[in-house]
Amino acid sequence: MDIYEAIMKRRSHRLYKPDMPPREALERVIQAALWAPSGGNAQPWEITVMAGKVRDEFVEVCSKALDQLREDMKKMGVPEKGQELTARFMKDLGGAPVVVAVTRYKAPSEHLDLAFIQSGAALMQNLLLAAHAEGLGTCWMTGVIYVEDEILKFLGKENQQLVAITPIGYSAKEPPVPPRKEREVRWLGFE
Ligand SMILES: Cc1cc2nc3c(=O)[nH]c(=O)nc-3n(C[C@H](O)[C@H](O)[C@H](O)COP(=O)(O)O)c2cc1C
Repeated sequence: MDIYEAIMKRRSHRLYKPDMPPREALERVIQAALWAPSGGNAQPWEITVMAGKVRDEFVEVCSKALDQLREDMKKMGVPEKGQELTARFMKDLGGAPVVVAVTRYKAPSEHLDLAFIQSGAALMQNLLLAAHAEGLGTCWMTGVIYVEDEILKFLGKENQQLVAITPIGYSAKEPPVPPRKEREVRWLGFE
């Protein structure tokens, strides 16, 4: 798949078929994720891939974030319908058969904290694009941060921090394309 096509056509998917993706495809996706750049090549991350009963138990932990997320959505003025859709998605992560959690090491300094956060984000984007190239849907999620401690305990990584989670599976519904804003891009010294 052409890189530009992958970037433009990747979407956040919030409804999945129950079909399990092939293990080899998931392994390719995880390998691509691990090839992300990282500050000082520290690779300060760990990945947990979950399916079956573990996935179900993990989703139950994540769904506990819903109460606080609802409060914040109200404060942000998210319309009722949007709140309902988010709530429905959060309860079972759209029924995706696989869920990936990405965690990162705690940084020893403020400078490294920024680098570690951004390294984790680079890994996430690699993962999303590779999954898309495999015909799999994903949805980068930080909305579960309200229950970060519970998530880290579940994963047995209490000494780390949460980067994000994503469901992975075959999409059951093609999502609309959220429009991008016009942002100023300055080109200096070209003329
Ligand atoms: C850092 C980050 C956090 C996100 N957290 C959530 C989330 O918690 N729940 C959710 O449904 N979508 C989440 N998203 C997905 C965004 O809503 C989505 O990327 C955006 O609306 C643009 O849509 P697209 O990904 O289909 O292009 C997150 C995306 C990013 C980059």
